[in-house]
Amino acid sequence: MRECVTALERASAACNALSCNLRMTNEGIPNLTAFDDAALDKAFGALARTARESAATLHSDAAVEAFRLEWLGRKQGRLNEVSDRWLKTAPPEARKAVGQRFKVLKELIEELLDGASGSAPSDGALAAEAIDITLPGTRRLTGAEHPITRTMNEIVAVFAALGYSVGVGPEVETDYYNFESMNFPAGHPARDTQDTLVIAGQDRKPLRDRLLLRTHTSPVQMRTMEQQPPPVRIVIPGKVHRNDAADATHSPIFHQVEGLCVDVNVTFNDLKGTLDHAMKALFGSSVKTRFFPSFFPFTEPSADVQISCIFCGGKGCRKCKDSGWIELLGCGMVDPAVFAFAAEKQPAYDPRKISGFAFGMGVERIAMMKYGISEIGSFYAGDMRFLGQFT
Ligand code: DAH
Repeated sequence: MRECVTALERASAACNALSCNLRMTNEGIPNLTAFDDAALDKAFGALARTARESAATLHSDAAVEAFRLEWLGRKQGRLNEVSDRWLKTAPPEARKAVGQRFKVLKELIEELLDGASGSAPSDGALAAEAIDITLPGTRRLTGAEHPITRTMNEIVAVFAALGYSVGVGPEVETDYYNFESMNFPAGHPARDTQDTLVIAGQDRKPLRDRLLLRTHTSPVQMRTMEQQPPPVRIVIPGKVHRNDAADATHSPIFHQVEGLCVDVNVTFNDLKGTLDHAMKALFGSSVKTRFFPSFFPFTEPSADVQISCIFCGGKGCRKCKDSGWIELLGCGMVDPAVFAFAAEKQPAYDPRKISGFAFGMGVERIAMMKYGISEIGSFYAGDMRFLGQFT
């Protein structure tokens, strides 16, 4: 507010000074009675001072033009009058002294005109430019990691700390990597559980080359093994697609983190210890794990990992359907048939010499549990009220 007032005051002062000087024009230039140096200095000095004061108040194109006319105007300009009254009437011996001072005054006026910027704010512009500091500022939103990215990074970080590296693979995948090399033979009923979205126009290709949207991150296990001999310790975060109807807990596009560990003498006990540690790191050290027999074509034996319910501590509640346990991920020992596919490119994957375990978890499911989110759709809706809670 103070700044506002100051700007207005300045504008009105400028206005006064201008009209005051214009009035002086009408008063004209007095005749000189003495032409000695002191009298000339006094007379020219007074004009120079007036010009300076007046020039300091020029804040618009119109004011600059008025100033130019006032001093340099052909007929009624002040310098013209000075020339008529002081220069032309000067006694011959004083001509030079008057002429020199006249020249200096003219240069001064021209300098002042050069310095006066017509683009300087006009009185109106000054007021418009004034800042009202009582108004709220422009709010800039804080950027933040999306909760899915954040959860994915947290999971990856747990395994990175155990010495795992991170890999990625394509979302548009071939039938071979998504199914065949993962030990889902053509026509195997387990393929049906994956609700696959296929790319159109692939029918003329051999089955193994047909493109589809990967239904899981497991094909990157095979891509990794083909690229490097054992030992392998890798986690693979990524997006997967299934022809699933969306509901509160399902989305046709979601995310997984895959894990693969292959070395000599890797046992089911290593698998249990690794995943028990990972679940404690993600959900808190009081969480317990249990391994429930399951089936996946690419692991034998296979298990579902359950964690003690993080909502009731295992006593039984609505969230865990009174069981005290929540199913969270799949895992198992890598099936020798999978190693046989890898050995086609990397003979070191000889199931008689090496062994390994694999696991795969759904990122959305873990994020929903960690942050108490009940609708999977909240992740994708782009609602700032939801996303803003993760800044
Ligand atoms: N690929 C499985 C799925 O999407 C998850 C999974 C289960 C991955 C067991 C694994 C595993 O690596 O060993 O349902």
